Amino acid sequence: MTEITPSHTSRDTQQSPQYVMDNLASWNERAPVHANSPDYAVDKFVTDPDFLSDVVRFDMPLLGDIAGLRGIHLQCHIGTDTVSLERLGASMTGLDFSSASLAEARRLAERSNAATTFVEAEVYDAPAALDGQKFDLVYTGIGAICWLPSIDRWARTVAALLHVGGRLFIREGHPMLYALDDENPDAFVVRYPYFEQPDALIWEDAGTYVETDHVFTATTGHEWSHGLGETITALLNHGMRIDGLVEHQSLPWNALPGQMKRGEDGEYRLTHGAEQVPLTYTLQATRIR
Ligand SMILES: C[S@@+](CC[C@H](N)C(=O)[O-])C[C@H]1O[C@@H](n2cnc3c(N)ncnc32)[C@H](O)[C@@H]1O
Repeated sequence: MTEITPSHTSRDTQQSPQYVMDNLASWNERAPVHANSPDYAVDKFVTDPDFLSDVVRFDMPLLGDIAGLRGIHLQCHIGTDTVSLERLGASMTGLDFSSASLAEARRLAERSNAATTFVEAEVYDAPAALDGQKFDLVYTGIGAICWLPSIDRWARTVAALLHVGGRLFIREGHPMLYALDDENPDAFVVRYPYFEQPDALIWEDAGTYVETDHVFTATTGHEWSHGLGETITALLNHGMRIDGLVEHQSLPWNALPGQMKRGEDGEYRLTHGAEQVPLTYTLQATRIR
């Protein structure tokens, strides 16, 4: 990936901000390629009614029993994790702004006989798009909040989607990982901001994170880091109680090429210095007011 100059997030207040337009074009082009990639294992959902995504399988010990819960999966992409949560007994709605992602998600739900429903909306518009419905569970993560400029606005959105007593489950890329230089396989070098910045980091990338020869034409992506303290503070400020925070030494994509090895569970781990850097975290919180 090539970093280009940070810029302001909006060029025209009359339409969607530039970051939304660029990121949307990028995800719309990538969704069908992801759905056809063995990495997302879409066909396995169809042939094996008990199949779960590696991501949800990893979550299960911390997630616990979700049977009977009404859940909303923010930034659900092509629905593999959403359908997996439905298979664990929750009644799930997936939300994403990418129509191409949701077309794949709906096809997956139909082919795998899942009752999962999907809604097209931007994250910050979710409470309105869902007509003010309240849920027992907000589930999100694995490369989700990095596409959003304000963690405070995200936390407000999460709280608005939960009834009092409802819970948030997020497993996300660690901001310490996002601060590291992914082009230096010989050392851990801090290159990017750990803390949230008003300006996005803007990338040019003609590839994606699944194995493919496809060369993408929508190449611009806008991303933000959100420090762990900033994320926790935002949730506290919006009436959430923090119930748990676990930092992990693995993640489901090859974030530091040349330094990681994929395990049987689909998780990538550092071959050296695993004890030095957290790669993901799971944060759980409950709405208390
Ligand atoms: C890496 S994927 C989410 C990861 C998911 N765990 C997966 O791998 O299937 C990121 C998703 O966020 C969605 N997204 C990005 N920005 C968004 C926004 N502002 N509102 C709604 N969805 C957004 C994209 O369309 C994409 O489907």
